Amino acid sequence: MSTQKLATNALHAGHDTTQTGGTRAVPIYQTSSYVFRDTDHAAKLFSLGELGFIYTRLNNPTNQILQDRLAAVEGGVGAVVFASGTAAIATGLLTLLKAGDHIVASSSLYGGTFNLLNVTLPRLGITTTFVDAAHPENFEKAVQDNTRAIFVESLGNPKLDVLDLKAIATYANAAQVPFIVDNTVASPVLLNPIEHGANLVIHSLTKYIGGQGTSLGGAIIDAGTFDWTNGKFPEFTDPSAGYHGLVYSEALGAAAFTFKLILEGLRDFGGALSPFNAFQIIQGLETLPVRIKQHSANALELATWLEGRDEVAWVNYPGLKSSAYYDLAKEYLPKGQSGLVTFGIKGGFEAAQKVTDATKIFSLLANIGDTKSLIIHPASTTHQQLTAEQQEAAGVPQDLIRLSVGLEDIEDLKADLIQAFASL
Ligand SMILES: Cc1ncc(COP(=O)(O)O)c(C=O)c1O
Repeated sequence: MSTQKLATNALHAGHDTTQTGGTRAVPIYQTSSYVFRDTDHAAKLFSLGELGFIYTRLNNPTNQILQDRLAAVEGGVGAVVFASGTAAIATGLLTLLKAGDHIVASSSLYGGTFNLLNVTLPRLGITTTFVDAAHPENFEKAVQDNTRAIFVESLGNPKLDVLDLKAIATYANAAQVPFIVDNTVASPVLLNPIEHGANLVIHSLTKYIGGQGTSLGGAIIDAGTFDWTNGKFPEFTDPSAGYHGLVYSEALGAAAFTFKLILEGLRDFGGALSPFNAFQIIQGLETLPVRIKQHSANALELATWLEGRDEVAWVNYPGLKSSAYYDLAKEYLPKGQSGLVTFGIKGGFEAAQKVTDATKIFSLLANIGDTKSLIIHPASTTHQQLTAEQQEAAGVPQDLIRLSVGLEDIEDLKADLIQAFASL
């Protein structure tokens, strides 16, 4: 593992320039496949007798550099990248779980993840109990004999609840199941879940890490700390029918899950990241440490300003003293609380739609983490498919507007909101 600091790793980790013809930038290896020296070489690669590239669905040199860099910035033993954050979550859970297994998850999750756990995975026999993460002991109470994972977002989207990761990790440990933390909104610069007991960390690279809103991507970073031999995960200790008898825990030790994700998860579900997107995401990762601090500073200033506006019913930002999560933010997010702010507009659902329609700099779209400022009304869009109770649990009341505060001049952002409020 790298001993260098995060900002250095974000720029250099994983790239040995002597291996890429001296290119200072990470090159794009735009190839589907790799020429084997002969059939013996090919056989060795397939049997893991020698490590190397076989086919881009499994791995690719550009993607490998991104993987090594993400492992370095999050402090894991390995990372695997995917075509999107959703592909990372779905492939990760399907590689880990089987019909009959159970997940305990925070009820405050990105809407797509909630639907995956609530509707799609149950069709395959994998069920989830959603709990209010404000009371970490709820995770312990919801654990069943067949529980095989605890899943949370470190900073929930869009509830912006900061989770007490250390407390939840204790319950995951006691239940002997992996603690999986989606760290997309916080980013590795502001929070490293592995330091607080996470076993697997997930990112939608589409958001702050890519940063420019150009490319979808996702990743799973493996802390290498979970004991797959504890008896609950026979697929790691029995010979794998899916990979000619490989015993993952014996052959690959701490990297067992990383390899299973590649050898079975990517092979069978096929959600590989395009090397071109990996290249774009690498450009973003290189400047993430400076960008995310400015996103956080702009968001805090805008949230503070919104609190003083008559049109606004309430403001939610973990860096505000008025936030229920202020103390947890001080503990887990002391360097900044990222760029998302939510607020309620007086006048409810219709007023929220009006303001959202009227902004000119804030773009109305379904993404977060872009350098440009974004706005959405979740109750009518991203969380439309949820019932009223599910919307409430996810922290999405009807009047809520979500801002993803970008890097524009803060005075221009305030002026844009003032003219949008004037439409009421
Ligand atoms: C917290 C979080 N996790 C995962 C995802 C899914 O990522 P993607 O859109 O790259 O599939 C999102 C998307 O908004 C998200 O906000």
